[in-house]
Amino acid sequence: DWVMQDHVAEAVARIRAQVGDQQVLLGLSGGVDSSVAAALIHKAIGEQLTCVFVDHGLLRLHEGDMVMAMFAEKLQVKVVRVNAGPLFLRELAGISEPEAKRKTIGRLFIDVFKAEAEKLKAQSAREIAFLAQGTIYPDVIESGASKNAKKAVTIKSHHNVGGLPEQLGLELLEPLRDLFKDEVRELGIALGLPPEMVYRHPFPGPGLGVRILGEIKPEYPDLLRRADAIFIEELRNGIDAASGKSWYELTSQAFAVFLPVKSVGVMGDGRTYDYVVALRAVQTSDFMTADWAELPYSLLKRVSSRIINEVRGINRVTYDVSSKPPATIEWE
Ligand code: XMP
Repeated sequence: DWVMQDHVAEAVARIRAQVGDQQVLLGLSGGVDSSVAAALIHKAIGEQLTCVFVDHGLLRLHEGDMVMAMFAEKLQVKVVRVNAGPLFLRELAGISEPEAKRKTIGRLFIDVFKAEAEKLKAQSAREIAFLAQGTIYPDVIESGASKNAKKAVTIKSHHNVGGLPEQLGLELLEPLRDLFKDEVRELGIALGLPPEMVYRHPFPGPGLGVRILGEIKPEYPDLLRRADAIFIEELRNGIDAASGKSWYELTSQAFAVFLPVKSVGVMGDGRTYDYVVALRAVQTSDFMTADWAELPYSLLKRVSSRIINEVRGINRVTYDVSSKPPATIEWE
């Protein structure tokens, strides 16, 4: 629409004015905010933008390839993909406590990003002057609120890349700072990003790292990725007759969780002794409180039988019927 096209033109002009002929670095995660920021900045300054995509090996099925297909191939954005999966797995070995895992993932992420940024700074013919981030208005409010909070109990420590610009000697570029999530999505659509990407459920920075309970053994992420992809595919395909919407649209967030416990099953005439996944689907308006979603039994049945039949190594599927509070949305 017109209003959005005006907004795009205005944002593009503002970015051009701020950046001039200097170079910009952006941490691309594949999430909505950084994706929209990348598309917008690319529209404004094209080749002057370089994105760094740190693949920590804890992403969803084919996610890394999809990010590259979208940005590097389709939009012709310069993207450096860093395949840090093996490093993350190595460093996470032996760590099972959720906060310790979160902190390890956060620290490694920053280390890897910084190393790549330093390399690009050294190589770049023109000086890299800016670090772009997909900060949106609620993030601005939230970080202000947490600074003012006297002594809030930390339930989960989130990824925080707040110190990066200073450490890298870069100025911040935050073109989405004044926008709410809905506006960011509309902007993404106006920029030509596909709706499946723009209307995706949120995904936590530590990724599957907080959806594999306890220690992350090398064989776990792949099992979880495959189970999760089946769940999401069936949610997208399952249409609620009353609303005409898919169950993916009717839920705010949905995913599979890997439980590193084994239970006994039977397959053909053999015994199995394999892992369990839990399915989590919630409805919420603000992610501060959430209800578990009353998914149709027929849908749960299809998901369960597909996972057990298609993912060798998982022989049991459960559904999480906990609301937030007292449970949280993610399990760690
Ligand atoms: P919880 O589990 O606290 O999650 O009920 C609330 C929302 O926050 C997301 N989440 C995160 N997002 N980095 C993020 O960017 C994180 O470390 C993180 N931990 C949780 C979670 O997926 C849900 O949408």
